[in-house]
Amino acid sequence: MRNKKPFVHVSMIALVLGALAGIVAYFGDWLPAPASREAGRIWFIFWASTVVSIVIFAIVTAAILYSVVKFRKQPDDDTDGPPIHGHTRLEITWTIIPTIIVLLLSVASMIVLHKNSNAGTKPLKVDVVAQQFAWAFTYPSGLQSGLLRVPLKRPVELHITALDVIHSFWVPDFAQKQDAVPGQTFRLVITPTRLGTYPVICTELCGLGHSVMRTAAIVMPAAEFDTWLADQDEKLAGPPGEAGKTVFANNGCAACHALAAAGAKGTIGPDLDKLPAAAAAAGVPLDEYIRESIVEPGKVIAKGYPANVMPATYAQLPKDQLDGLVDYLAASVKEGS
Ligand code: CUA
Repeated sequence: MRNKKPFVHVSMIALVLGALAGIVAYFGDWLPAPASREAGRIWFIFWASTVVSIVIFAIVTAAILYSVVKFRKQPDDDTDGPPIHGHTRLEITWTIIPTIIVLLLSVASMIVLHKNSNAGTKPLKVDVVAQQFAWAFTYPSGLQSGLLRVPLKRPVELHITALDVIHSFWVPDFAQKQDAVPGQTFRLVITPTRLGTYPVICTELCGLGHSVMRTAAIVMPAAEFDTWLADQDEKLAGPPGEAGKTVFANNGCAACHALAAAGAKGTIGPDLDKLPAAAAAAGVPLDEYIRESIVEPGKVIAKGYPANVMPATYAQLPKDQLDGLVDYLAASVKEGS
């Protein structure tokens, strides 16, 4: 009986500690709930590791607390402890158990990594280009968008690269991160499982605008996504004015610029309705001035606005989309003036 008592006491303390740590882990608002199949698998590994950590924490801390209280040196006790050296069985135990745990977690992680890189047979391929300080998403039809729209439950294969410095693509709800490196293209597979709008964040310090290098990933029902894509392609193939309006909307121009024709009220960049005056001041034809401002945003900086704020990603718009945008802007501001 005498030998069983410490075991019972340590177990009881461990249960209390484990329960407390479990409550903190379970009820804490640590991470967003997974919104993709890949994120769900990562969550499984995350929680498996957390449970193992809590169990080890509880047992070790309980043994320490028990020993500190129980074997505390009495004020009048000057004796030495018993001459013990080693305990083979104990040492084998605490070597084998962690080895098994680490092996199991490693194998499970390998399986998850392997599964998460499998895009199936018919993924939706989207090119992702990062540049100071914006994201551009290009669909197979050539449609470029500043927002990442994806269908529910269909694997999306992102091909991620950068134009200038290293950036990193991250949607917390999708749990995966992938660096965007100039000159290299990396794959990332995402199979959304929950409808909604999630933040896309650049998670690699890339310059002054790093903290604002954000956009959104929008998960849509598959049928709605197909309709949207077909509709966009139709608009882009339509008359230049219509196509340009779509390009303007898709690339988030309204977030920074005001344009009466589009009901845009952004104030970060120059008011586009003042383009005719700016072109006249520069002595350049309006169309040419607009094109130049999109492709080479640093060439003429409007008075009162800082340089290097407008990303140069729009220079990569497919030619027809760029032409459409220039036409649309020129026509809109001419009507307005
Ligand atoms: Cu791009 Cu930080």
